[in-house]
Amino acid sequence: MYTGLLHSHNLFVTLFFLHYVIKLVLLLTNKQEQLAKYSKTTKVPEMILSFGFLLTGGWMLFKGAAFTTLITIKLVCVFTSIPLAIIGFKKRNKVLAFIAVALIVASYGLAEVNKKEKTGAKIDTTTITDPIVAGKLIYVNKCQQCHGEIGNGGGSGAKDLSLTQLTLDEQKVMVRNGKNAMPGFKEDVLSDADIDAVLQYVATLKQ
Ligand code: HEC
Repeated sequence: MYTGLLHSHNLFVTLFFLHYVIKLVLLLTNKQEQLAKYSKTTKVPEMILSFGFLLTGGWMLFKGAAFTTLITIKLVCVFTSIPLAIIGFKKRNKVLAFIAVALIVASYGLAEVNKKEKTGAKIDTTTITDPIVAGKLIYVNKCQQCHGEIGNGGGSGAKDLSLTQLTLDEQKVMVRNGKNAMPGFKEDVLSDADIDAVLQYVATLKQ
């Protein structure tokens, strides 16, 4: 569910962004006539796109995407860019239009940084000899916020780990590389031994 939302959100954002890049290029190259024509023919699609991306974005927040500082800055960028874009293109003001499109780019960049930040810093488990204990420590710090205390997702939309059909190797790849809303955990955050440990702990969540 969450993943489907994220996909449609990304699609809406990409199309919306491309649409505005086209408009910006026409404006910057003084193609006033084409711009007027393009804006007129894309009026309804533009409405659908903006509605779609605001709706899917809002829905994701509602569904439990964490309200971090970055997300807040991102929202400010998005909501500043909208009036700037409307005024900028209406008044054919190149600077305003440019800033509006730049803000959309910035909020996209922030979304990527936000994804990266979700994995956080490395946890030292070297003094723990029992892999299940080490795995639990990692799980609580790195996985629980999305997958919930008992692995069932706790309503955040992440997959239920107690029901996973993936093999251990597939799970390792998933943790290392991530997929959609699941962030990839790189070597500097989780070593191979850490991933083995956390997946051993995850296996205990299966009833
Ligand atoms: C930011 C939220 C988030 C965090 C943090 C997170 N996950 Fe996930 N995880 C997801 C989402 C969302 C999916 C579903 C991805 C998809 O298939 O689109 C997922 C999928 C998985 C899957 C695959 C399940 C299946 O059956 O397909 C495994 C295994 C997994 N996560 C393990 C972990 C482990 C272990 C950690 C901690 C090291 C972790 N996750 C941290 C969100 C998260």
